[in-house]
Amino acid sequence: MPLVLVTGGTGHLGRDIVARLVRDGHRVRVFTRSPRPAMQVEWAIGDLATGEGLPAAMQGVHTVISAATDSPIARRGGVRPTDFVRSPSAVDVQGTEQLIAACRDASVQHLLHVSIVGLEEAMLPYARVKLAGEKLVRDSSLPWSVVRATPFYYLLEKMLAGVAWLPVWPLPKTQFNPVDTADVADYLVRCAFDGVRGVRADIGGPDTLSCVEFARQYQASQHLHCTIVPMSDRLGRRMGFIGSDGVRGTLSWRDWLGRRELGMRAAA
Ligand SMILES: NC(=O)c1ccc[n+]([C@@H]2O[C@H](COP(=O)([O-])OP(=O)(O)OC[C@H]3O[C@@H](n4cnc5c(N)ncnc54)[C@H](OP(=O)(O)O)[C@@H]3O)[C@@H](O)[C@H]2O)c1
Repeated sequence: MPLVLVTGGTGHLGRDIVARLVRDGHRVRVFTRSPRPAMQVEWAIGDLATGEGLPAAMQGVHTVISAATDSPIARRGGVRPTDFVRSPSAVDVQGTEQLIAACRDASVQHLLHVSIVGLEEAMLPYARVKLAGEKLVRDSSLPWSVVRATPFYYLLEKMLAGVAWLPVWPLPKTQFNPVDTADVADYLVRCAFDGVRGVRADIGGPDTLSCVEFARQYQASQHLHCTIVPMSDRLGRRMGFIGSDGVRGTLSWRDWLGRRELGMRAAA
């Protein structure tokens, strides 16, 4: 089996990509700043922000799946005023540039880059950073693919949990179809090995609903009764709540919330 290097393999999506690759019998190496002992994979230690560790990480690698990112919004699960002004680019832009150079030097056969649906329309600086990173991949001389995904359920849940204490939730009416990371991982692994290159179909979740409806389902799962005030559709799209008519995942938001609840009860 050819060796696959996953950047961001310790993240939400990355852990599902690694699990899927391992299940399919692939040899997997994860590029990280700090290995996690619980994961049974080969580790390559380094830092995309500096390029440290990349040449060694590439040795013998056939395919790279690039799923690392530095998103302060995803990390904290909420938007702050500074997020409308700037977003760090060291990982997603300069790091992608260094990754491409390392892939070229090591004659990597395929660089599969994970991106986000609707980057051109979203106004947050993080979207501009992601777009710049994606463009570097598309302009590179490597054999590359780009897969864009809609927002992940884990992030939607984090954002809604962050406003749970408010009696009134102002939320955009925007329709979109967030998706489960395991569904995205399954699709990415198919795209990594089906021999096709270039911009692939986007992936989103099975249900297209408004942010308001997703929030109502969340409230029902948490037995919350906060008032929801619908806000402008356009604002939601500018914030990145953008759907896709491409490939559809199978796990619904309602079922994802149910599974999460069961997991938390089992862990308690
Ligand atoms: N979140 C969403 O809603 C969403 C939607 C569509 C697409 N995407 C895209 O999907 C991908 C994965 O997103 P995610 O939300 O799953 O990410 P995440 O959970 O925030 O994980 C981020 C990953 O990036 C790695 N990373 C961060 N800084 C690094 C550095 N300096 N050097 C090396 N690795 C670094 C981290 O690894 P270590 O900490 O182990 O170093 C971690 O594995 C990203 O490309 C993202 O843009 C996300």
